Amino acid sequence: MKTLAVLTSGGDAPGMNAAIRSVVRSAIYRKFNIYGIMRGYAGLIDGDFMKMNARSVSNIIANGGTILKTSRCEEFKTKSGQRKAVDWLKKRKIDGLVVIGGNGSFQGAHVLAKNWGINVVGIPGTIDNDIAGTDYTLGADTAVNTALDAIDKIRDTVHSMERIFVVEVMGREEGFIAIRVGLTGGAEDIIFPGNDYKIDDMCDDIRAGRKRGKMNWIVVVAEGVAHAKDIEKLIHEETGFEVKSVTLGHIQRGGSPTALDRLLGLRFGAASVDALANGLTDKAVGIIADEIVLTDFEKACKHSKKKIGLDLELYRLTKILSI
Ligand code: ADP
Ligand code: F6P
Repeated sequence: MKTLAVLTSGGDAPGMNAAIRSVVRSAIYRKFNIYGIMRGYAGLIDGDFMKMNARSVSNIIANGGTILKTSRCEEFKTKSGQRKAVDWLKKRKIDGLVVIGGNGSFQGAHVLAKNWGINVVGIPGTIDNDIAGTDYTLGADTAVNTALDAIDKIRDTVHSMERIFVVEVMGREEGFIAIRVGLTGGAEDIIFPGNDYKIDDMCDDIRAGRKRGKMNWIVVVAEGVAHAKDIEKLIHEETGFEVKSVTLGHIQRGGSPTALDRLLGLRFGAASVDALANGLTDKAVGIIADEIVLTDFEKACKHSKKKIGLDLELYRLTKILSI
């Protein structure tokens, strides 16, 4: 009989609970023991393990956040922190670990596999969608829909009062949320990583738009490039028009996962247990064109050129459709 463990690490993301449910029940289905580790790598260092059974994951499929809790843990980046973590995994006789988290969590998981010989498989869980080897990470779709709901509401007042509005969205160094929400929310412009923006050009566009009778203007800005307040000030100084701004913040990380995020969590969870059962390690599960794939952690942590190309294509479409 094998013994597996699962933890969630880094920023929480909607769909993590669905993934935990799937890991736990897929492991039990295979007659494995399964532990949940609390608070990510911090709990691993402290030996905060919890034996799970099928009922431990009842009624969590629709919930955001993570029942295992999560953390950012500086100590785990040190050798002594990693040694404590590995000692606990050995003490509990863990044959395989599932790490649900983002880019940083995968770097930690890679260190556990490569330097310490632990069998680890990752599940991409982050609203940022900043992992290669998968079209989507858990939580990104829910975050886009949450931000979209906010923009739709902002649009009501923007349209009624003929205003310019700057909306800042999350995404760390990535433009995934900004671009999807910009295009689907009917924004006039998007400021996102990998695409130089010039305030002068943006203001020329706004003035030209007003001449064509286009009075409302929404700019979505990715937090990794600039802050909404600063862009608001720059546009106002340059044009003299009234500009308002809002930072959506952590509401984008919460809420019930969309059907897509639940589906991903459930498929990723089962695939991670399959991978560990088949003796695989140092790999992340992902989904490409609806098929489950496995990618080495080292590759999964790099930026995907394909995704950058798609961002630019969606931005071009946003500009064309905002005439
Ligand atoms: P995310 O996984 O959402 O990207 P972080 O970047 O905060 O979030 O990473 C989560 C945790 O992963 C960090 O707090 C740390 O414990 C661990 N981690 C990140 N980078 C490394 C690294 N290079 N080596 C070891 N552990 C790391
Ligand atoms: O990685 C997920 C994320 O929500 C990013 O989009 C954001 O930059 C960051 O985490 C915020 O982290 P914290 O909640 O620690 O402030």
